Order: sequence, then structure tokens, then C-alpha cells
Amino acid sequence: MQVQGTIALVTGANGGIGQYYIQGLQAAGATRIYAGARHPESLKNIAATDPDRIIPIPLDITDEALVKAAVEAYSDVNLLINNAGVGFNQRLVAEINFDKVRSEIEVNYLGMLRMCLAFAPVLKANGGGAIVNMLTILAKVNFPLNASYCASKAAALLATQGIRAELASQKTLVVGVMPGTVDTGMSKDFPPPKVAPEEVVRAALQAVIDGVEDVYPGEQAQEMQAQLLQDPKAVEKWMSGILAS
Ligand SMILES: NC(=O)c1ccc[n+]([C@@H]2O[C@H](COP(=O)([O-])OP(=O)(O)OC[C@H]3O[C@@H](n4cnc5c(N)ncnc54)[C@H](OP(=O)(O)O)[C@@H]3O)[C@@H](O)[C@H]2O)c1
Repeated sequence: MQVQGTIALVTGANGGIGQYYIQGLQAAGATRIYAGARHPESLKNIAATDPDRIIPIPLDITDEALVKAAVEAYSDVNLLINNAGVGFNQRLVAEINFDKVRSEIEVNYLGMLRMCLAFAPVLKANGGGAIVNMLTILAKVNFPLNASYCASKAAALLATQGIRAELASQKTLVVGVMPGTVDTGMSKDFPPPKVAPEEVVRAALQAVIDGVEDVYPGEQAQEMQAQLLQDPKAVEKWMSGILAS
């Protein structure tokens, strides 16, 4: 599917990667970009650069009523980018805070799922279109210092596969994007290497164009994916070794 001429909706559009999605979609020639944010006024400046194309919209993906309102108002969408996410860098046993666990599940899993379900009929009506879900390579192996986040993203990865299977008959491409550490505020306490957010967006939009379902932007994710295919237990052990060191 071409990105040029699409009507896109991006969640978490004011975030580190979200802003690059807006720019990437602009550069690729999207006709309109609904930029979803809990506080759309935070997108005032970027929208002012291209007011005919960038439309900030109020969207909290944990809020059923706001999601429903978005579906009704933006029924022309044919490219849904589920980018919004939260991560609290918490371990599971040592420092568990169930409010934070719930929040990660509410946003990263249930919020993403809610958006997919809500927009599936819209995408169908608009010819199938595509969904891009922002996952992480840590959906495939747990990083114990961030274990709770990994678990929520693992749920999102498996949901992505299920949604992909169900929406195949309506010709909706469902892309899962699995970078390693991305250079944004979310990972400010993480050590390098970090992939640039613009590279993540470039790879994700190219996957939409090429019809690729699983994307691993950056060397870190690609290497880890190769190791996971070769010896998943060794990768798990290596990750748990980081906790011990
Ligand atoms: N950074 C990384 O290392 C990395 C690696 C792999 C995958 N990812 C994933 O990439 C995506 C974007 O992350 P990022 O690095 O750009 O993080 P970020 O800068 O913290 O941005 C996260 C965005 O999600 C929004 N958000 C949070 N809860 C929301 C909700 N309930 N409804 C709607 N929007 C909500 C935030 O809005 P507010 O400004 O209102 O909080 C913000 O716009 C996330 O799904 C993340 O898990 C990130």
C-alpha cells in the first residue's frame, strides 16, 4: 500500500517517536494526518507548519468514549498507527507497583487493542488499509529491569498476530514494529546503542509500502531477532545476566 495519499491517524503523536511519524507521513505525501494526543494543544506548533494536513485531535486510548468519538469523526482513515505507549522501568518481584502494571496493560495492550477493534470497520470500508502497532523487541524476550513493560508488550505482540489473522479477509495489512532502544524520553535512562526515532518511522512506513508484517528497525533489534531465532534460551539467560551484574 502506498503511504502517499493516505489518511493516517497516529496515537501518542506528541511523543518522541510520534512527532517523527507526523514528519515521516508528511514527507511520504500523506493527504491528512490526524495527530492524536491526550493534550492536543501540545501539537499546536507542529500543526501550524502544515494546518491543512496535520489535524490535532483529543485521544486518550484508554477512554472508550474518546475512541468511539474518533471513529465517528474520522471515518476516512486508512492507515492507523498505534504508537502511544507507557513504560515505567519496573521489575516484577522486587518493586512491583500494580497501578503501574495496570497502566502498562491499559495503554500498551488494551488501548492498542481498543483502537484496532474500533477502526477495523473503518479500514474495511476504506479498502482494507493498514495498521502499524509499535511493539518492541522486548516483546519477545523479557528484560528483567523493565519486566512489567515487556509483559504488556508481549500481550500486544500476540494480539497483533491475532488481529492480523482476523483482518486478513478484509485485506488490512497489520504491521508489528519491534525496535530495540529508541532515542526518546522513554529510554532516557537506558544505555546506548539507541536507534534514531526517524529510522524507526522510516522502517515502519517502508514496511507498509512493501507489505512486510514484522519490522526490526536498527542493528540492535536485528541482531537480537537473529539470536532469538538461533537460540532463544541463550538470549533469555543473557538478559537475566544483566540483572545479576
Ligand atoms: N523509546 C524506546 O526505547 C522504545 C522502544 C521500543 C518501542 N517503543 C514504543 O514506541 C512507542 C512510542 O514511544 P516513545 O519512545 O515515543 O515514548 P514517549 O516519548 O514517552 O511517547 C509516548 C506517547 O504515548 C502517549 N500516551 C501515553 N499514554 C497514552 C494514552 N493513554 N492515550 C494516548 N496517548 C498516550 C504519550 O502522551 P503524553 O505526552 O500525554 O504522555 C506520548 O505521546 C511506545 O509504544 C513505546 O512503547 C519505544
